[in-house]
Amino acid sequence: MKTIHEKIRDFWKKIRVLAIVCNQFGDSGKGKIIDLLALFANIIVRGTGGDNAGHTVLTNGKKYTFHVIPSGILYDSEGKTNIIGKGTVVNPRTVLLELATLRENNLSYNNLMISLKANLILPHHILIDRLGNRPEVKDRIGTTGRGIGPAYVDHYDRQGLIVNDLLNEDIFWGKLKRSVENKIAFLKCFDPEIVKQIMNHPHLENGRYYHNEKSILDMDAILDRYLEYGRELRPFIRDTDAFVREALFQEKNIILEGAQGLLLSIDSGTYPFVTSSDCSWFGLSEGCGINPGRVDLVLGVTKSFYMTRVGEGPFPTELGGEMSAKWCGSKEATKEKETQKYPNAGVNHKDEFLQGIGIRFEGDEYGATTGRPRRVGWLDLPLLRYAILRNGPYLVLTKLDVLDRCETIKICHEYVYAGPTYHYGERVINPGDKLRVAIPNAEVLAHCQPAYKEFEGWQCDISKKRSSNDLPEKLREILQWLRIVTPGRLSILSVGADREDTIF
Ligand code: IMP
Ligand code: MG
Repeated sequence: MKTIHEKIRDFWKKIRVLAIVCNQFGDSGKGKIIDLLALFANIIVRGTGGDNAGHTVLTNGKKYTFHVIPSGILYDSEGKTNIIGKGTVVNPRTVLLELATLRENNLSYNNLMISLKANLILPHHILIDRLGNRPEVKDRIGTTGRGIGPAYVDHYDRQGLIVNDLLNEDIFWGKLKRSVENKIAFLKCFDPEIVKQIMNHPHLENGRYYHNEKSILDMDAILDRYLEYGRELRPFIRDTDAFVREALFQEKNIILEGAQGLLLSIDSGTYPFVTSSDCSWFGLSEGCGINPGRVDLVLGVTKSFYMTRVGEGPFPTELGGEMSAKWCGSKEATKEKETQKYPNAGVNHKDEFLQGIGIRFEGDEYGATTGRPRRVGWLDLPLLRYAILRNGPYLVLTKLDVLDRCETIKICHEYVYAGPTYHYGERVINPGDKLRVAIPNAEVLAHCQPAYKEFEGWQCDISKKRSSNDLPEKLREILQWLRIVTPGRLSILSVGADREDTIF
């Protein structure tokens, strides 16, 4: 039988540019797949999002979580280039913290590049993000609080600062003044005590940028700090678009590393409960500086047979429904509290809420960025079919081993609509209508009741299986059924956390 190295080498034979994106709400295990396929890649590029992402990579028994640096960084010593592309929003402080972690672990980052065109996340972006996401705000999105949305708004509002501005003091100062001054009147509408409290948050360096009640932001402090960041990051700031163009010409193997997931995409997701970048493969290629036409293969990573969502927004198959959403969104919900409070939770609990918690324990589904418990639900095929329409048919199913001990697996194969009559262009959706492909609009999804097909669980350890023929019959039946009821084509199965626990 071929080794994993040989399989990956074969995999790359017909492709040059590979996009790896998530078909769900993020946290589907892209990090592991990117780390694995990067074995035979030369360049790994991130093109969207910022330090809201949390990509977990496991090597030699050690777990690393990166928020902004691409997941291929552990290959730096082999000369592979990792790029933070132009479509991302960059918080220089987070980059430097991650570089420090790499140094502490004796890992190199000599070949890291940061696009000079990427937009900067500035202190007022974090402030505005956090003001809009206080628990008492109606219809809050439940963001990661990293300033992602406001940084992208500034970009589209033509008030953004880019990474290159860190290298040019006068330009930085002029743009900073404009960006900040345009927001002061708005910021003054908030309770000064709340503003001050947020400005004292560790992400805002405990008040370093706070001036006073009247002017709120200390622009001199921002300038000083960001110029310092510029001096530290200078060796990495590059015209990465030109670099990538040249690499395409030289036929290098390139991985485009997606962040978040299609259903969180600003253009294709469950708007407004989304992030502020386009997480589809074409949004990703734009953000990497690559014409989407140059992408040879798109892999849609899909957690199976359960899925998760962090933050607010509709989630039809959520185990425990409203109760789960409420608990996961509450301030007190942490891994420790949950373990103490629900010791009886388990993957086979008859109570859905406790079964959801059981799956969360089993899959260790806690936000890599915020530590929040991820809401857990069954795999949702109407959403998956919709994602396949956008991201294409090639699927990577991940975390299959998490449900090893599950007695019954439920998969949502269609929705029954139970809301008020809804006009979707020329189409009219009436109560009782069945939907096989989801309409991702939050107003529709909120009223979709899942219809499930139940399967008997395989109830054995699959993490050491190395070929699909070795998988238990009951699991093979489910995979067979998936091939029939979705247009998806199964390319890779991940049956455990380690690199070797992968079936091609
Ligand atoms: P933002 O990206 O911080 O603006 O958050 C917007 C929404 O996207 C919130 O519901 C977040 O929980 C969600 N989100 C952002 N990044 C991730 C991620 O990497 N994994 C899962 N959810 C995310
Ligand atoms: Mg994640």
